Amino acid sequence: MKKVLGIAGSPRKGGNTHILVSQILKGARAAGARTELVSLSNLRVKECDGCHTCWDTEVCWISDGMKRIYKKLMDSDCIILATPMYWFGPTVPMKAFIDRLVYFCCPKNEDKIKGKEVVLATVFAGDDPGDATPLLKMLKMTTDYLGMKLKGKILAPGVGEKGAIKKKKRKLKEAFNLGRSIGKSS
Ligand SMILES: Cc1cc2nc3c(=O)[nH]c(=O)nc-3n(C[C@H](O)[C@H](O)[C@H](O)COP(=O)(O)O)c2cc1C
Repeated sequence: MKKVLGIAGSPRKGGNTHILVSQILKGARAAGARTELVSLSNLRVKECDGCHTCWDTEVCWISDGMKRIYKKLMDSDCIILATPMYWFGPTVPMKAFIDRLVYFCCPKNEDKIKGKEVVLATVFAGDDPGDATPLLKMLKMTTDYLGMKLKGKILAPGVGEKGAIKKKKRKLKEAFNLGRSIGKSS
């Protein structure tokens, strides 16, 4: 059974990001996958301090919620990175999470993430999908660098208020279908 892990990077609990990624996970479950959603706002992931201890010891010395997330990442087949757009980039919790992925950028640890599937998801208030280009490029370059395989992306423009995405039925359907496609065992 395929394991799909959603990482939601919004500080706003139960907001548009959470709804979007939950919908993707629902689709994945419908295809038979086992799913889990991690909300970074509950975990207070600290910033990487660049000590690189993890490259020698295979353990990050920072004691926080990321310890559990590393294990979940390694146990997953497919990872959904979902963040609202904040100033054309990811939120602080999502950036802190991404920085801590430096753990995987060394010969001892790289195989622990290389080859895993990834899906990119973002929500934002503006109507122009092109506004998401820098954010999606940054996420893609990061996951490419880690050797992950991009399986899909979804962007939801025009959602500013909390829960506004609930009215975007077509977008929610797209998210469900994306989840169904990644949830299938290959
Ligand atoms: C600090 C901050 C920065 C934001 N920057 C942008 C932006 O650059 N472009 C945009 O379209 N929306 C921007 N937004 C709006 C959010 O992306 C939007 O409200 C989104 O739905 C929030 O998702 P959430 O409900 O999951 O928290 C910003 C919101 C905040 C609070």
